Amino acid sequence: MIGRSEEYAKMFELEGQLWWYRNLHERVVTALERQFGDRRDIQILDAGCGTGGMLDFLRRRGYTQLRGIDGSTDAVAFCNERGFSVTFLDLTTLASFEPAIQYDAIICNDVFCYFTESELPPLLLALARRLKSEGILVSNNNAFSVFEGQHDIAVGILRRFVLTDFEQLMPPTGLRIQRATYWSFVLSPMILLMRRWQRLQLRLGWQKPENAQSDVYLPSHWLNETLYRIVRTEQKFMSRTPFGSSLFMVVSSQHPSVK
Ligand SMILES: C[S@@+](CC[C@H](N)C(=O)[O-])C[C@H]1O[C@@H](n2cnc3c(N)ncnc32)[C@H](O)[C@@H]1O
Repeated sequence: MIGRSEEYAKMFELEGQLWWYRNLHERVVTALERQFGDRRDIQILDAGCGTGGMLDFLRRRGYTQLRGIDGSTDAVAFCNERGFSVTFLDLTTLASFEPAIQYDAIICNDVFCYFTESELPPLLLALARRLKSEGILVSNNNAFSVFEGQHDIAVGILRRFVLTDFEQLMPPTGLRIQRATYWSFVLSPMILLMRRWQRLQLRLGWQKPENAQSDVYLPSHWLNETLYRIVRTEQKFMSRTPFGSSLFMVVSSQHPSVK
């Protein structure tokens, strides 16, 4: 994704409006409130913060101690435009970033898919080390390879995950999955059909991989609102579902003294 300026521009423009981002941001705040109640002074790091939509949502919800890191100059520039002074940093070097500082919450949404098999365990360990003893890591990730489509090509996703991947990856780093759910379960048939159609178009040569477009586009107002209401209702009434194109997890530090 890094270097694809047009994808950052789309994300910056649409993440405040698009049903998917709106619900993701609400899921994150719900997780923070479950852990920290009404506290708005918790130290939060958004690792791989993109164009700052999550940080902006948190700021509007009253959170005051917000930090961001991203390895893209486009992302950092868009965050600056929102008034956030985020740090340009490759997360593979997270261990060297302000090593004395620990956070109550680290958010890492849709970032792990850019890390190889050998890069991911050290990243998880580095994140674990930056959590306070009661801290949580909140992370959304692309799920199930059946959902691969043009979006994956357009934003350069290396892999998709299932929960068992993280159940194996987390314990050696001292992290423990508190809660996890796939989403959107209700919309998964529609998303699956769309992605399969995209893959068929690619296989038949009707669509060139170099012209692949991400799913970051705004549908009509009524469709956007309908999809938003569906995912919000799912979030409210189905706390854990077995299938969906994303995997949302709340992870805590297993050993308060992981160093
Ligand atoms: C799909 S975007 C998600 C952005 C944001 N977390 C969100 O939910 O909108 C992935 C982000 O991870 C960043 N990223 C990917 N690899 C990275 C790395 N090695 N170091 C730092 N940031 C990285 C990209 O620049 C991009 O902003």
